[in-house]
Amino acid sequence: MKKIYKRTFVLYLLIMIVLVVVGCLKNTTEVGYKPHQPVSFSHKTHAGTMKINCKYCHSTADTAAHASLPSSRSCIECHRLFEKDNPKLELVYNSTETGAALAWISVCNLPDFVYFNHSAHIKNGMDCAACHGKVETMKQTFLAIEFSMAWCLECHQPDNGNTETSKVASSSNCSTCHR
Ligand code: HEC
Ligand code: HEC
Ligand code: HEC
Ligand code: HEC
Ligand code: HEC
Repeated sequence: MKKIYKRTFVLYLLIMIVLVVVGCLKNTTEVGYKPHQPVSFSHKTHAGTMKINCKYCHSTADTAAHASLPSSRSCIECHRLFEKDNPKLELVYNSTETGAALAWISVCNLPDFVYFNHSAHIKNGMDCAACHGKVETMKQTFLAIEFSMAWCLECHQPDNGNTETSKVASSSNCSTCHR
């Protein structure tokens, strides 16, 4: 009798742990995930209204695996002239003085066991919006598309005669993304 109770307890414990882990993962990979940022930066204002090019701020998107985030120095290029007394920019000015980078919270979070490469996609003519949605309309940045494995495999699949997808036939093996 006792043994059975112990087993059920261990089983429940395991199920709880799995649920908690899955719950935590889900939180950050769910469409609409919108972390509160240290500075209320708006893509709608900067990339939408002002039409600043994405690559002005994310300069390595087409040349490296990772798309970099802008340094506060690049914000100050403009903000030494604009909105100087706006309290929303206080942290940005502090950051350039102290040299400590702003602690932006990631919106797009692939698990560590997945390898992704921006430049491989951009060089093949893919638009930022195909994977990030219409960022230039976002007041607060949110996750527009869930980066599930199934979604990646819509393109990364073995040659099936479909010209659009067979382009990536070479990278449909597991080691492309899990290395
Ligand atoms: C090319 C110039 C330029 C660059 C670069 C720039 N900004 Fe701005 N930003 C502006 C202008 C102009 C406004 C005022 C827009 C308005 O009020 O319509 C503004 C407004 C803001 C505001 C105030 C928004 C509000 O709702 O009060 C914040 C915060 C801000 N910018 C943060 C940043 C940060 C952080 C960066 C760097 C990642 C940055 N900006 C880079 C020009 C720039
Ligand atoms: C003036 C600078 C600026 C411009 C222009 C800009 N961004 Fe950003 N971007 C930022 C900053 C600062 C962050 C970090 C804060 C946030 O997430 O809102 C960011 C975050 C992001 C993120 C989330 C990254 C993460 O943490 O996972 C994506 C995706 C993104 N930008 C795409 C774009 C696209 C696409 C464009 C062009 C349509 C663009 N950005 C234009 C400054 C900029
Ligand atoms: C094929 C899909 C795809 C395209 C196209 C794409 N991205 Fe991304 N982006 C991603 C994924 C997936 C991540 C998350 C990477 C990770 O967590 O390792 C990401 C992350 C980011 C980040 C956070 C920093 C980083 O590298 O993790 C920024 C900023 C960003 N993208 C900007 C852009 C911009 C700007 C463009 C267009 C020039 C663009 N992306 C095009 C899929 C894409
Ligand atoms: C809309 C189509 C599309 C989607 C969606 C897509 N990819 Fe790709 N991917 C490509 C193309 C096209 C290439 C470049 C051709 C090649 O390398 O075979 C590429 C290349 C890559 C490479 C580089 C391969 C190499 O050998 O260097 C990696 C890594 C990669 N993709 C990972 C991912 C991951 C992870 C996702 C999902 C988060 C994803 N891709 C989603 C089309 C796509
Ligand atoms: C084009 C990129 C890509 C390729 C190719 C790929 N995966 Fe994945 N894989 C992902 C991404 C992104 C995730 C994380 C998101 C998720 O869990 O759906 C993932 C998650 C996983 C997981 C974690 C469990 C899960 O579903 O969350 C396993 C196991 C896995 N992949 C196995 C494989 C195997 C085996 C292959 C080869 C048959 C493969 N993957 C090929 C992108 C890829």
